[in-house]
Amino acid sequence: MSSSNTTAPQGYYGRHIFFCLNERKGDEDSCSKHNAQEGFDRCKSRVKAEGLAGPGKVRVNKAGCLDRCAGGPVAVVYPEAVWYTFVDTSDIDEIVDSHLKNGQVVERLLLPPNVGR
Ligand code: FES
Repeated sequence: MSSSNTTAPQGYYGRHIFFCLNERKGDEDSCSKHNAQEGFDRCKSRVKAEGLAGPGKVRVNKAGCLDRCAGGPVAVVYPEAVWYTFVDTSDIDEIVDSHLKNGQVVERLLLPPNVGR
């Protein structure tokens, strides 16, 4: 590979979004108890329907616990490392249409920086 490239190297995917789908048994809270699967499914189908899926474009992946459970359900978009919390499928639609498609962060759905486990 040439070292004379003047542009930043691109990843295999342009953007990569990970959804925590962790499920804890019993009374302990986890993202799966707050519609995480529904959000993941919606994102996956919208990204595909919009023609955004694939190399150089967008990849939607399941993840285990991302250790920010108190704000769950959570998802994170790379390479920007933007963390979101969402409530319903309309929130997911906004993330897809605004961030994944156009690179515009959805400020109202940002996970506050101090939210941890
Ligand atoms: S259970 Fe989802 S971040 Fe921990």
